[in-house]
Amino acid sequence: MIIENEKGVTEAVLAASAGTESPRLRELMSALVRHLHAFVREARLSEEEFEVGIDFLNRIGQATNDRHNEGILFADILGLSTLVCMLNNGGAGATETAAALLGPFWRMNSPPTPNGGTIIRSATPGPALFAHFTISDPAGKPIEGVEVDVWQASPVGLYENQDASQADMNLRGKFTTDAQGRFWFRSVKPAGYPVPTHGPAGEVLRAQGRHPYRPAHLHVLGFREHYKTLITQIFVDDDKYLESDAVFGVTRHLVGQYEKGIGAAPDADVTGDWYRLNYAFVMEPGEAKLPIPPIK
Ligand code: BEZ
Ligand code: FE
Repeated sequence: MIIENEKGVTEAVLAASAGTESPRLRELMSALVRHLHAFVREARLSEEEFEVGIDFLNRIGQATNDRHNEGILFADILGLSTLVCMLNNGGAGATETAAALLGPFWRMNSPPTPNGGTIIRSATPGPALFAHFTISDPAGKPIEGVEVDVWQASPVGLYENQDASQADMNLRGKFTTDAQGRFWFRSVKPAGYPVPTHGPAGEVLRAQGRHPYRPAHLHVLGFREHYKTLITQIFVDDDKYLESDAVFGVTRHLVGQYEKGIGAAPDADVTGDWYRLNYAFVMEPGEAKLPIPPIK
């Protein structure tokens, strides 16, 4: 097709992709082209801005490697990850959901750990946490045999893969729910931390005058045949960043009650402050599917 004017470009691209074999890919690409072209028209994008944008995209790719996923981080700070999460859980956004964004730090093959065990694998400061969870179906029936990955940052604000001073897989573990749908473990009370700001996503945060902090949280990924994989985070209720999470992950439903323990802790070796967290998850019937790990 010969391009007669600026409108003709959009029509030509849509016509060129009309033969896409997969109907879903055709739908996605058509919507993408229409919205991208509309964006350029609305913003009246200059040639210099276009160059900056392409360079930005290239740098997101260059900043991504086995240990860091800038692409996910960029989607997170734009609220895209949370939007996709909400539209695919909780009745397509109509009802409350226990789901939350995955983030860039989930790793496959967390160490299997017995219930009641600890995920502290090297000396880690911070108050002890005794976390107790249940998982049931929407009718309230406990689900046995859910494989549950948990992961969190150390109170220094770094995941073990970001911090050579932590043991491999520190503050990560894989549990299995018992016949009552329970899993439980010992850890440290999570602390808030800044998302990585060394790359293009950090440039955007600075340009927009935004802080990089996430409120303290514990990540959970529950996997069992016949249930939609539950990916979520439980936030600490006294965190000052609950209202301004840099990646828009906090819903009221996901704020946990981290209760300060009174008297002796469940484990005799605890000397300082300790906390208890109880939280009940519901898993929806659906497809059990693991996400692509953002890092290795
Ligand atoms: C996280 O919670 O691990 C996370 C989520 C989004 C961006 C950075 C970190
Ligand atoms: Fe996190």
